[in-house]
Parts: sequence; structure tokens; C-alpha cells
Amino acid sequence: MGGFELKWFVRVAVVLMMVPEILGWGKEGHYVICKIAQEYLTEDALAAVKALLPGQAEGDLSNVCFWADEVRHHYHYRWSAPLHYVDTPDFLCNYKYCRDCHDGHGHMDRCVTGAIYNYSMQLSQGYYDLNSEKYNLTEALMFLSHFVGDVHQPLHVGFIGDLGGNTIVVRWYRRKTNLHHVWDTMIIESALKTYYKSDIMLMIQALMKNITDGWSDEVPSWEDCPKLVCPDPYASESIHLACKFAYRNATPGSTLTDDYFLSRRPVVEKRLAQSGVRLAEVLNRIFTKKPSVVAQ
Ligand code: ADE
Ligand code: ZN
Ligand code: ZN
Repeated sequence: MGGFELKWFVRVAVVLMMVPEILGWGKEGHYVICKIAQEYLTEDALAAVKALLPGQAEGDLSNVCFWADEVRHHYHYRWSAPLHYVDTPDFLCNYKYCRDCHDGHGHMDRCVTGAIYNYSMQLSQGYYDLNSEKYNLTEALMFLSHFVGDVHQPLHVGFIGDLGGNTIVVRWYRRKTNLHHVWDTMIIESALKTYYKSDIMLMIQALMKNITDGWSDEVPSWEDCPKLVCPDPYASESIHLACKFAYRNATPGSTLTDDYFLSRRPVVEKRLAQSGVRLAEVLNRIFTKKPSVVAQ
């Protein structure tokens, strides 16, 4: 992967200098993913990303990676709600773009993998034709960065009958919640408290160390993508993990405690890291230096 030339501890030191404000629960996953991604951007890609970021980002992609979840409830962005997930037939444990990528009205391509194809195409076309005002590239960047995160959350590729675990009521220790929320938020929240002194920067530091150390053998396969972007294999991985880890032993009414937390936390942490590495890869591919117009 381009950009691994700095030692991990130098990168970590740089990240630690930029401590964020307190975050509301639920934003952590996207924050971690985008912070990791930003660390692995090439110089060209980082410059292109910074040029597209809105003012509220203050030059940091991770400050706007939750934006798509904030606006999905606004009237003008209600159309974007189905783009955060893709549902599969109950209990099949596989994903197929043609079968599954549609919204509740059957409109094709309106799901998280379709959205990743669409926004990566908009960014690469727009980058090559800066005079084109066809697309809002700032929104395309914020949507793409968010949806690459979402497609890695196993239950964002979940069964249609339970809306990706949203209708499965469970207890997380003593708190009543639903299975989807456990995977969006609770596992990350508990991991932060138990292992990282509630400091999100310590979690990011640990994941980045694992990317260069513990998982380094696997990282090239995470990045393996012969096209501009490869959301379909990521969705297939997610539904497999949903079946193997998220839905297993989490039937309606069950109480999830240490057994579930300890065995699922490594899955969640690896998905966050994979998602960050893959977001960096796709942004690096989109924003590679333009070929010279005058060839000679
Ligand atoms: N709504 C319906 N299905 C969903 C899913 N898999 N994830 C999030 N929200 C959903
Ligand atoms: Zn989302
Ligand atoms: Zn979710």
C-alpha cells in the first residue's frame, strides 16, 4: 500500500497531536474509519480531499464522516436513507447485487453498494473534468466516506425481515436496545471504556499498530481490487460475518454480556481497520495525479 513508508509510531504521534472534541455516541465508528483512512492517503489524494472538504470539517475528513447519518432524517435528504444499507433474503447468508441492491419500492441501485459505485464514479469523473458542474463533489466525498464505513458494518448487510437487526430487541448487559444498535455503537462504546480509557485516539492508535504489525500479512488482500472500487466483496464479507457473529446467539429477548462482547469485539475492530484502509485505497485511486494533457 502506498504510504506505509513512515513508521507506525511516527504516524501515531501525528494523529495524537490532533485530539478531537468529545463525540456523541454513534459517531465513533465513522470517526475511527476516516481518521485511519486519512493517515494512508497519498499527498495528491490528501490535497484533493482537503480541497473538497466543507468549512465545518476544519481540514479533517473524519469531522464530516457522520454527516450522511445526520442529514438522512432531514426532509431534503430523505431520498438518501436506503443508501446506508442493503438487505438480503432471510437466513440465506449471501449477497447478490442484482437481487438485493434496490430500495423498498424496487428501484435498482438504491442501496449502500450502489451508492458507493455512484459516488466514486462522480468523484473520479468530476476530478478529471473540473469544469463540469454536474455533481456536488463535496457531498459525493462525504457520502462515499460514510458508505464505505457502513458497508463494513455486518448488519448493514443484514436480513430484510428484521431490518438488519433493528427489530431484534436484546439487552446489552442491563440496557434494553436492539441488535443493530449493539453493532453500530455498543460494542465500540464498551471496547473504548474497557480497553482504551474512553479515549478514541488510543483505539485508533491500537488499530493502526495492528495494521502494520498483527494484520500486516492480510492487508494486501484487503486492498485487492482490480477496479476503481469493490463494494460487492465487502458486502459479501459483511453478511457472512452477520450470520457467523452478529445473529448467532442473539435471538429476540436475549441478554448479551461478556461472552458475546469478548468474542465480537475483535470482529468489530478488524472491520473498522479494513474499512479505513479500503477508504484510503479508493480515494488514492480516484485522486491519482492526472495524466499530462500534452503527451510528449
Ligand atoms: N433499515 C432497513 N434495513 C436496514 C439495515 N440493514 N441497516 C440499517 N437500517 C436498515
Ligand atoms: Zn449510515
Ligand atoms: Zn446502522
